[in-house]
Amino acid sequence: MSQYLEQYTQALQDPEAFWAAAAKSIDWDKSWDKVLDSSKAPSYRWFTGAQLNTCYNALDRHVANGRAEQAALIYDSPVTQQQKTYSYQELLDEVARLAGVLVELGVSKGDRVLIYMPMIPEGVMAMLACARIGAIHSVVFGGFAANELATRIDHAKPKAIMSASCGIEGARVIEYKPLLDNACELSTHKPAHNLILQRPQAVAAMQEGRDIDWSSAVAKAAPADCVSVAATDPLYILYTSGTTGQPKGVVRDNGGHAVAMMWTMKYLYNIQPGEVFWAASDIGWVVGHSYICYGPLLNGSTTLIYEGKPVGTPDPGAFWRVISEHKVASLFTAPTALRAIRKEDPHCDYIKQYDMSSMRALFLAGERCDPDTLYWAQAKLQVPVVDHWWQTETGWAIAANCLGLETFPVKAGSPTKPAPGYDVQFLDDAGQQVAAGEMGAIAIKLPLPPGTFPTLWQNEERFFSSYLETFPGYYETGDAGYQDEDGYVYIMGRTDDVINVAGHRLSTGAMEEVIATHPDVAECAVIGVADKLKGQAPMGFAVLQSGANREKAVVVTELIALVREKIGPVAAFKMATIVHRLPKTRSGKILRGTMRSMADGATHKVPATIDDPTTLGEIAEDLKVLGYPKST
Ligand code: COA
Ligand code: AMP
Repeated sequence: MSQYLEQYTQALQDPEAFWAAAAKSIDWDKSWDKVLDSSKAPSYRWFTGAQLNTCYNALDRHVANGRAEQAALIYDSPVTQQQKTYSYQELLDEVARLAGVLVELGVSKGDRVLIYMPMIPEGVMAMLACARIGAIHSVVFGGFAANELATRIDHAKPKAIMSASCGIEGARVIEYKPLLDNACELSTHKPAHNLILQRPQAVAAMQEGRDIDWSSAVAKAAPADCVSVAATDPLYILYTSGTTGQPKGVVRDNGGHAVAMMWTMKYLYNIQPGEVFWAASDIGWVVGHSYICYGPLLNGSTTLIYEGKPVGTPDPGAFWRVISEHKVASLFTAPTALRAIRKEDPHCDYIKQYDMSSMRALFLAGERCDPDTLYWAQAKLQVPVVDHWWQTETGWAIAANCLGLETFPVKAGSPTKPAPGYDVQFLDDAGQQVAAGEMGAIAIKLPLPPGTFPTLWQNEERFFSSYLETFPGYYETGDAGYQDEDGYVYIMGRTDDVINVAGHRLSTGAMEEVIATHPDVAECAVIGVADKLKGQAPMGFAVLQSGANREKAVVVTELIALVREKIGPVAAFKMATIVHRLPKTRSGKILRGTMRSMADGATHKVPATIDDPTTLGEIAEDLKVLGYPKST
C-alpha cells in the first residue's frame, strides 16, 4: 500500500490511534484522558484532560535540547534595510520578558490580548508571550481600518492591546497608532493598556496611564514562566470574513493545534528541524499563525519574517534574494504574489542573480492556483510546486500533495488529494454524494482532525448554524468543487458571499452593509469579478434613493472612500457604479451570480424567475463602462 494511502486510511479508520501516535512529538505536562472526546457530538474535542504549554514546546524545549544557538527567527526587511537573526535562546529571552510585561499589566490565563502589528519579530514574540502565560491572542491584520479593529475589540474584550507605531507598505509609512486610538474610541470595551512599540519611522503620541512603551517595559521586566493550560483551552481567536459584517471568531485550541502543526511540518512540508521555512504571508492571516509563528518553531526549524512585498521592494527578484541569502528550504506564498512577480519579470530574469540551490519546494495556498501560474512557477523554479487547499477554520491543509509522505504527479488546478484526517465529500443540495467529476458543495465528515476549530468565540450557536446545519454530520466548507476518478480534488469557488482578493478573504456582504449606510443609497450589491492579478476584485452596484440627485461620479467616489474608511485598504474596493435597478428574481433575490458571470464574460442563462429581464441589459451597459468583461 502506498505511504499516503496507509496513513490516510489509518487516520480515518482509527483516528484516536493515528493522532495519539502523532502526539508523541509534543512535550505534555500531563497526558490525556481521551484522545477524542465525542460525548458532545457534533461538537468534538481532542486530547481532553491533557495539559501543555505551546510556547514551551515552541521555544524552551528546543533550548533545553541543544538548539539554543540555532537560528529560530530571521527578520528580513527590505523596507527598512534591516536584517536580524534571533537564536532560540535569544527568542526565548525576549518572549519570556515580554510575557513578564503582560503579567505585570495584570494579564493572566484565559484573558484576551489583541495584537495589531506589522511584519516585525515583535509580532511573533507577542503571540508567543501570550501563549506562554495562557492568554488568548487575537491578531488583527494591519490592513483593516479602525472600525474593523473596534468590532474585534468589542467581541474579544481584550485586557491589553499590543501594537506598533507604524507599519511600512512599500515606500509608505502607515501610522498604526492613530488607527488604534480611533478604534479604542469607537469600541465600547476599553482595554486597560496598550503596549506600543515605537518604530523610528513614525513615533506615536502616547496617552498617559493607558499607553506603555514596549521597549522600556521589556527592558525592566522579569521573565515569566510557562503556564500549563488544558489541551482544549483556546490558544487564539482569529477573526475571518463570513457572509455578514460581523466577522467569525475562529477559535484554536492548544493541544490539537500543536500536534497538527508538528505533523504537517514533517509529513506535508517535509521540513526538518534546523531548516529554514518561509511563509511569505502576514501574521494577521491564518497562514501566518500556522506557518510563520507556530509550525516552524514547534518543529525546531527556523522561521522567516519578511517585511516587504514580492515586487517593488525593490524589484521582482526580492523573493529569490531572500531564498538565496537565508538558504530557505521551502517557500509558502499565494499565487497572486507569483502573478505580481511574473507581470513585472515575465521571463524571471532576476532569479539568475541568485543561488537557489537551497530551495526544495514551493507551496501555494489562499486562493485557487490557475494552471498558467503553476506552469510558470514549475518552469522557472524547477522544484515541486504544491498547491494546497485550506481555510482559517481548519488551520492546516484539507488537501495537499504531502511531500513528506509520498509525492503524487501534479494535476494543474488541483491541490491533489485530501490530507490524512479529512474525509472530504462532494454533496448535492440534498446532501447526497455526487459522482466523480460532478460539481458539489464540499463538506467534511465529522469529526474534523486535531488543529481545526472546535467552535467560534462565544458563539457556539453561530458555529452550528454556519457550519454544521446544512449537512448533518458534516462540516460545510463553503467551497464548491469536484473530485476526479483518481481522487484529486478541485476547488472551484465559494458557495457564499465570500470573495478572495490577492489571497485575502473578504465578505461582499460586509461591503454591502457599509455601502448601504451612505445616505443616498437605497440598495446595493457587491460581487467579486475575475481579476488577472488579484484573482478576484470587488465591484459595487448601487441604486440611489429617489430624490438623490447628486452627481453619480461623486457618489461613486464617496462609496469607494467609505469602504476604505470602514473596512480598510485591504478590501481593495475600487470599482462601483450607480444603476437604476438591480436585477432580481420575482421573490426579490438579487441575481449576483448572473451579474458576476456577465462581468467575467462567462456563459450564463437568464434565470426563468427573473422579475424584469431589461435590468440585465442595463447592467451590461454599466459593465462596459467599467471595462467588463475584459477582452483577454
Ligand atoms: N497594513 C496596512 N495596509 C496594508 C497592509 C498592511 N499590513 N497590507 C495591505 N495593505 C494595503 C495595501 O497597501 C493596499 O493599499 P492601497 O489600496 O493604498 O494600494 C491595499 O491594502 C490592498 O493590498 P493588496 O491587495 O495586498 O494589494 P497590493 O497592491 O499592495 O499588493 C500583491 C498586491 C499581490 C503584491 C500582494 O497582495 C501580495 O503580496 N499578496 C500575497 C498574498 C498573501 O500574502 N496572502 C496571504 C495568504 S498566503
Ligand atoms: P482563508 O480562510 O482566508 O484561508 O480563506 C479560505 C478560502 O480560500 C477557502 O475557503 C477557499 O475558498 C480559498 N482557498 C484557499 N486555498 C485554496 C486553494 N489552494 N485552492 C482554491 N481555493 C483556495
